[in-house]
Amino acid sequence: MAQGQGRLNSSTKSPKGNLSDGNRKLDAFSKRQTLAQHRKSLPIASVDKRLVEEVQKHDTLIIVGETGSGKTTQLPQFLYNAGFCGDGKLIGITQPRRVAAVTVAKRVAEECGVNLGEKVGYSIRFEDMTSSSTRIKYMTDGLLLREALLDPHLSRYSVIIVDEAHERTVHTDVLLGLLKSVQDARSKSLNNLQNTKNKKTNNDIQLKENGAQGLNFLKQYQGRTPLKLIIMSASLDARIFSEYFSGARAVHIQGRQFPVDIFYTLHVENDYLDASLATIFQIHLEEGPGDILVFLTGQEEIESVERLVKERLKQLPENSKKLVAVSIFSSLPSEQQMRVFAPAPPGFRKVILATNIAETSVTISGIKYVIDPGLVKARYYDPNKGLESLVVVPISKAQALQRSGRAGREGPGKCFRLYQEDQFGKFEDSTKPEIKRCNLSNIILQLKALGVDDISGFDFIEKPTRSAIVKSLEQLFLLGALTDDCKLSNPVGRQMACLPLDPIYSKALILASEFNCLEEMLITVAMLSVESIFYSPRDKKEESRTTKKSFASPEGDHLTLVNVYRASNEFLEKRSGLSKEKREKAFRKWCKENFIDSRSLRHARDIHSQIRRNVEQMGLRVASCGDDVLQFCRCLAASFFLNAALKQPEGSYRALANGEIVSIHPSSVFFKNKPECLIFNELVETNRKYIRNTTKIDYLWLTELAPQFYAVQN
Ligand code: CDP
Ligand code: MG
Repeated sequence: MAQGQGRLNSSTKSPKGNLSDGNRKLDAFSKRQTLAQHRKSLPIASVDKRLVEEVQKHDTLIIVGETGSGKTTQLPQFLYNAGFCGDGKLIGITQPRRVAAVTVAKRVAEECGVNLGEKVGYSIRFEDMTSSSTRIKYMTDGLLLREALLDPHLSRYSVIIVDEAHERTVHTDVLLGLLKSVQDARSKSLNNLQNTKNKKTNNDIQLKENGAQGLNFLKQYQGRTPLKLIIMSASLDARIFSEYFSGARAVHIQGRQFPVDIFYTLHVENDYLDASLATIFQIHLEEGPGDILVFLTGQEEIESVERLVKERLKQLPENSKKLVAVSIFSSLPSEQQMRVFAPAPPGFRKVILATNIAETSVTISGIKYVIDPGLVKARYYDPNKGLESLVVVPISKAQALQRSGRAGREGPGKCFRLYQEDQFGKFEDSTKPEIKRCNLSNIILQLKALGVDDISGFDFIEKPTRSAIVKSLEQLFLLGALTDDCKLSNPVGRQMACLPLDPIYSKALILASEFNCLEEMLITVAMLSVESIFYSPRDKKEESRTTKKSFASPEGDHLTLVNVYRASNEFLEKRSGLSKEKREKAFRKWCKENFIDSRSLRHARDIHSQIRRNVEQMGLRVASCGDDVLQFCRCLAASFFLNAALKQPEGSYRALANGEIVSIHPSSVFFKNKPECLIFNELVETNRKYIRNTTKIDYLWLTELAPQFYAVQN
């Protein structure tokens, strides 16, 4: 299988210009053949007919299968071929992660021999790759929720597959509840229609008399089909889904798994990046052929290990240099995402640096070694304090098992766990569903917009805690999204629900149009939506700090980000005469020189143009505050008043909303020169609680601009 893929991808790389037409056809032909062979070899291939029958028989079906057995890429194709897209209906497949939606759609388009966006497409926030001819549509779970706002019965879909349901993202959980009621509503309306039809056909005369009407009726009838719902999951526990869907049928797909040797460390590893790096090179220099998969916690960590690998390689003798590092994480630009699937050049070993996206959502061939530091970055929300933070926490036993399993897909493998065996024993059995540990204001706003007013009464697969619901409702109320009786406010609440952003950012944009600084706020929100704009390599800390200072604004990090964005604008505008490639190359060079993460900045630029379009459509006025930066800072205070903090005598800060003691993150412009009062955007917990992205404000602005909170709190 791996070899087949190898041939496929190296042929894609061959210089097309040198190929004759005949050769090119042959090339495409052999590519199709290799793909067809690969498809046939997947565990799911032998049960295709049975699966289709199961879907035909049951309106709700749960499919559980080993990762890599072909669920995500194959099932939609089986259903398409079995005629589930009659009447122009769509098969929708949701994924918790953007990268999975994109890479799988690309793969399936290739397998079907069509261009992406034709029969097979994807749609994720800020990126739509579908057309009127799309029938198999991959998307994020969050995006389908948004679609429901416009089309409450999801009438364009004949089948919806909720994939990776075991991940239990908050979007998946809410989607399951919504789909349950949509399925119900569609069956009911179909039954009603059926009853009327029966009555009418019994009355022959009437039907003849109403010839035209009868025809209309028939059309209407054909347009409505029951919604087929398929829940797919990699973990073995289908019970919870089955129970939730009133005892729905569950089928298991037998996978293949080779033995994997597990190794633990003897000591506790304090720096898991260093430990990962050491293990990569230990495997590379001492073990037989096979690719390495390393699980890291985020883009920043991945990029720093990527740089370290490259540096270390330079020091190795020539014959040990054959190692290539590739990375995959959610905000990787889509044109770079497919690189992880391409095999390394002959004789080279590939090391894949991934977030936990590679745990179950994305399967990469050729992996024989897995390095598992046992950590994951997750959002945690403390409803008592109203604080959400990004924390690196230990994974669960189930996750550790999934990770090691990645090494044994194509043959026996090895997994290096960078923790001790008794640490493993202390891991939770499974991961807590996100809905139990996240801020719910986003999802509550969407449910309200969908007409679900009684949030506690919503049929959640697992109910969030009452205190989390209450706190989030309170937050939405303070942001002006809800009225006194907890209904969506007009226009603010409705406008906020329309924007594909966290409520607090949506509110900032709406306020900014009143404060005449929407131009600056659009840039700020876009820049805050990506992981990290600046980076500082370990060996160039001083240099990167000095460079960063050239962008720094005395007002704070938000305007610093605006400065970076505008500098990149200026740079690109000056080179508007260049070809796209040359411009892009120059852009990357400029970013590198300035210690800016070019991928993040590119992503932020894309997000910017999307949300700019969104606010323009809403009729908000995009203007700049020009030199009046105070106006912008006041707008930040009015928007992020829930995240205000006051300096303490010893130099730390006290968050005003909850009394939490926090420190300024070293990346902030205020790390050394601390203002009395500031607002912040993010709380990151490592060895201490850090606040990131801060701007200096005047304490008195809070009572003036957010009296709904500070007048009461005094
Ligand atoms: O969903 P499930 O984990 O069951 O498997 P899948 O994602 O459908 O993957 C089936 C096969 O397709 C695996 O062997 C993957 O390596 C391959 N695949 C690929 O080569 N490139 C992709 N972009 C996606 C899948
Ligand atoms: Mg899958």
